[in-house]
Amino acid sequence: ALERTLSIIKPDATKRNLTGKINAVFEDAGLRIVAQKRIHLTEKQAGAFYAVHKERPFYGSLVSSMIAEPVVVQVLQGEGAVAKNREVMGATNPADAAEGTVRKLFAESIEANSVHGSDSLENAKNEISFFFAETEILP
Ligand code: CMP
Repeated sequence: ALERTLSIIKPDATKRNLTGKINAVFEDAGLRIVAQKRIHLTEKQAGAFYAVHKERPFYGSLVSSMIAEPVVVQVLQGEGAVAKNREVMGATNPADAAEGTVRKLFAESIEANSVHGSDSLENAKNEISFFFAETEILP
């Protein structure tokens, strides 16, 4: 089915000027960028976005890393976009990521892993509405 997923190009990647190279990987995989904006997250926003990880030992460090530099938040659309994006991103830890994936190509570490992508269709809907109004999404 045609789906939408929320993607974030993270500070480690925006800092290294990799937005275009990462977008090219998405587009080459058949994902369409139907909304996109560069924003600097506040601590409150980053903490709320990752609230599900609140009890994890890496939560504080994750939030700090997400507010260090601007991020690019985007909505990707395509057939099976949620799973397709996860495939294109590669494993969370770049050491485990397959050849040709964004994280294999660009990520620096498990935390500075260049991209975030929604892990289910339900989470995708919630994460998209966290950043975008329906009127900002233009397929
Ligand atoms: P992301 O897909 O954005 O979802 C949660 C993020 O937490 C993950 O990517 C990593 O950036 C980070 N993360 C996950 N596991 C660890 C870990 N063991 N140590 C540090 N950061 C982690």
